[in-house]
Amino acid sequence: MTAVVLALPGNHALAERVAAELKAEPGRLDIRRFPDGESYVRIETPVAGRAVLLAATLARPDDKVFPLLLVAAAARDLGAASVGLVAPYLPYLRQDRAFHPGEALSARHFAALLSNAVDWLVTVDPHLHRIHALSDIYTIPAQAVHAGPRLAEWIRAHVTRPVVIGPDAESRQWVEAVAHAAGAPWVVLNKTRRGDYAVDVQLADAAPLRDRTPVLVDDIVSTGQTMIAAMRLLARRALPAPYCVAVHGIFAEGACEALVAEGAAAVVTSNSVPHVTNAIDVHDLVARAAVTMLDAGRSRAAGAPAGAGAGP
Ligand code: R5P
Repeated sequence: MTAVVLALPGNHALAERVAAELKAEPGRLDIRRFPDGESYVRIETPVAGRAVLLAATLARPDDKVFPLLLVAAAARDLGAASVGLVAPYLPYLRQDRAFHPGEALSARHFAALLSNAVDWLVTVDPHLHRIHALSDIYTIPAQAVHAGPRLAEWIRAHVTRPVVIGPDAESRQWVEAVAHAAGAPWVVLNKTRRGDYAVDVQLADAAPLRDRTPVLVDDIVSTGQTMIAAMRLLARRALPAPYCVAVHGIFAEGACEALVAEGAAAVVTSNSVPHVTNAIDVHDLVARAAVTMLDAGRSRAAGAPAGAGAGP
């Protein structure tokens, strides 16, 4: 039976892309708030016996996750064969340990919540740092696709003589790959975060930056303070205005404007989170990953080895 793709609010472009890749039916979903602030959810497309995919990027997740849980539960109640989640931005990965006594291990608790609600998920470049793989915390099949090659393509096409700069040691994992694919040198800064809005960065070796156009590359821009600290460091060394390129533009209030005010040559993000800075398409990547997850699930259900290729 044809799969059904349900778009959570704000995810229609993503859902259309996923439905097109799967030759699936774009389903109808009514989500609204009761006057008391509680969520109302109704799946209007029949889903019994069908694979259901939920298109829901989860930046600023707290208002989005509860309706998502209700849709997933309703799909199961209505007899869906499976429920998958296509979430280009997967939140709650940065609180991956208790930094102070008494803190919730949000990454683990959120993963447990989603693992109970859906059968599989796909995402783009999850923020894995102290947690090394999604399978360390998710108990469902969880596939991550990588935007790095797309960032590199954008840099190659738009920046003359780039040098790729990562703002901290953990960014090395993607900065090195992006720089390699863009044919550019790279360097990572040393970052100390003293608070949500207090970030210091230092540069050990400026040699790779000489006669180059700086391109700051990070997985997430939230407050923008990491990129701003890096921009100020470059300005102190009289280097050209940098391009600010990120996979996930979360952009806390005023963050994008602050980057522009600081003198960014351009602020560029992928469409993992809808924003005016989106210039790099990753919807096709998650759509193709969703196809493989669906095929693998059908193969498992049929008792065949994954990839044996059950039809849609
Ligand atoms: C940190 O671990 C991430 O890779 C980003 O550097 C960080 O999330 C950026 O946050 P902000 O924009 O708030 O400085």
